[in-house]
Amino acid sequence: MALRKRLEGLAENDVDWRNKKSAVYVFHPGEDVLEVAKEAYALYQSENALGPAAFPSLKRMEDEVISMALDLLNGPATGTGNMTSGGTESIILAVKSCRDAAVAGFEERGLTLHGANLVLPRTAHLAFDKAAHYLGLEIRRIEVDADFLADADAMRDACDERTILLVGSAPCFPYGLVDPIPALSEIALDKNIWLHVDACVGGYLNPFAEREGVTLPPWDFRVEGVRTISADLHKYGYAAKGASTILHRTAEQHAFQGFQADDWAAGSMSTPTVAGTRPGGAIASAWAVIHYLGVDGYRERIRRILRARERITAGFAELGLAVHGEPRLALLAFGATKGDDLSIFRVWKVLHDRGWFSGIVQNPDGIHLMLSPSHEEVVDDYLSDLGDAVAIARSETGDAATHAAAPTRYA
Ligand SMILES: Cc1ncc(COP(=O)(O)O)c(C=O)c1O
Repeated sequence: MALRKRLEGLAENDVDWRNKKSAVYVFHPGEDVLEVAKEAYALYQSENALGPAAFPSLKRMEDEVISMALDLLNGPATGTGNMTSGGTESIILAVKSCRDAAVAGFEERGLTLHGANLVLPRTAHLAFDKAAHYLGLEIRRIEVDADFLADADAMRDACDERTILLVGSAPCFPYGLVDPIPALSEIALDKNIWLHVDACVGGYLNPFAEREGVTLPPWDFRVEGVRTISADLHKYGYAAKGASTILHRTAEQHAFQGFQADDWAAGSMSTPTVAGTRPGGAIASAWAVIHYLGVDGYRERIRRILRARERITAGFAELGLAVHGEPRLALLAFGATKGDDLSIFRVWKVLHDRGWFSGIVQNPDGIHLMLSPSHEEVVDDYLSDLGDAVAIARSETGDAATHAAAPTRYA
């Protein structure tokens, strides 16, 4: 097909993520899973979840996904939620629910929403800034502690009478670390502030890592103060892109999430999420992948990730590199040890030129890896190229080595 050839041609300069040398943007659980996601997507590519009466199939799939998600994340019987287009939409909806719930309380206390604020660690995703920007709220980012974790005491100090939301990540994107959610919960309960856990990365990863013996601090609805959780299916749920979940502890809270209006020539409209049209393909693909993998499939994938991470971090130690904090899941950042003047961004560039595509972190500088199950197959090649890259960076002097700039933004 001529158009297919042209489409393939358009990808000429894209990252070749199927070669397993990419550790950002794309999750590679294996060709079989990608096929299941593709077939399910194609079957429902024209259907629209905006119309549940027209497409009860999609409503049923969404309800089943939410029910499985609540089960996995220890949601109470009162729990509920929706599928969304991605982590950012789930986060916007959590912040919107919290803001609208806060309005009544503010009115009682004679306050306006002006200056209403979110308190979150520096490591929380920028989607919260986006949500605050859209929703007219203020952001207070608090420095993390020496272990790169949310500093609960500093966050408590940052709260005032207009603080409506506290955020912890499980794990955060930059370092792959799970924040001390129980300590944040204490603040939330003491001060009656909404606590959101951003498990966009971990929602469909942590439960299986825990089943494989990984110890994490309690991070989900087991923690009393947690009111909402964002968990992405298009990350470690391995679904096609465009699928996340926003989960609420109660239906009362969830009622603040929706939008409803009547004064329209075409009748009234009521939507649970930001989107109008909601792609059926994304919902069907997520539903199918969850059923295809099941608990055993997800456990098998996390085992491969954990093995890859352990071998890679052992390799870092041999090269004199240090991991930021103590990541126990699939994301990590690493860089030079304290006092070592190795330019880690120069190392990143050498790796990049050899086809390894990954992100960076800054302050302290480092290389960021988001591991997929398929990375287990390329660990030795990666460590070999990393060894060369470190040697090259150390052998160089002058601007290239000492002033290697942070690569342009990738995320
Ligand atoms: C922890 C975390 N939260 C939120 C997001 C935003 O998700 P999305 O890119 O699907 O909107 C990401 C994306 O990487 C993330 O890692």
